[in-house]
Amino acid sequence: SSNRTFFVGGNFKLNGSKKLITEIVERLNNADLPSDVEVVIAPPAPYLALAVSLNKSKQVSVAGQNTYVKASGAYTGENSVEFLKDVGAKWVILGHSERRSYFHEDSELIAEKTKFAIDSGVKVILCVGELLEERKAGITLSVVEKQLDPVFAKVPKEKWASDIVVAYEPVWAIGTGLAATPDDAEETQLAIRKYIATKIGEAEAQKVRILYGGSANGKNATSFKDKKDVDGFLVGGASLKPEFIDIIKSRQ
Ligand code: G3P
Repeated sequence: SSNRTFFVGGNFKLNGSKKLITEIVERLNNADLPSDVEVVIAPPAPYLALAVSLNKSKQVSVAGQNTYVKASGAYTGENSVEFLKDVGAKWVILGHSERRSYFHEDSELIAEKTKFAIDSGVKVILCVGELLEERKAGITLSVVEKQLDPVFAKVPKEKWASDIVVAYEPVWAIGTGLAATPDDAEETQLAIRKYIATKIGEAEAQKVRILYGGSANGKNATSFKDKKDVDGFLVGGASLKPEFIDIIKSRQ
């Protein structure tokens, strides 16, 4: 048990339409959401403003799925944290494994983006996680530590708990239907928290939310309920569906 507020993120990835975004936000508006949950939905950039304008729940805010390390200028195709703020989005997802693998983003760039976003007043859902080969080789922790290290070098200790939520997403569990077991997620997330504590101190580390991501759904979410270092979920596929509400209510 902790004082950390339960957090559920919905990463829509490259999925959306005006119709789908409207359906999802209206479902959230009409659901009786617990008052003590923080929900963040991340539609594709063209739908951010729509999501913000439709949202009526005070527990719900909106996130971008990526941003750049410049506020504006000649950077065709990029998205600025200033645009996020301008349309009312409060968060951005950074370091997702799909950005790391398909778009070749390394941990250094992700750390720069994280610092830029936080300095601009946008909070960050920072994704980390190992590949299947890395888990099999027993190097999960060192992989995650190397992903986090450049961020420790750039973001001051006192900003972590307030401005960063860490999402542990083992790559082998993403989109596969094979979620990590609650025990495996807890084991890794406890170890991640201990590592964070070595960098920012125990008291601050206790305040940082660490989410589990990877095939979380309306059925398995409750099985993580008593895992004390699983402070919520970052949900992909299931965030597009009615079961997203079940995940949000899974701590009740
Ligand atoms: O960021 C969320 C994610 O990568 C998990 O996706 O579809 O396995 O829930 P999914």
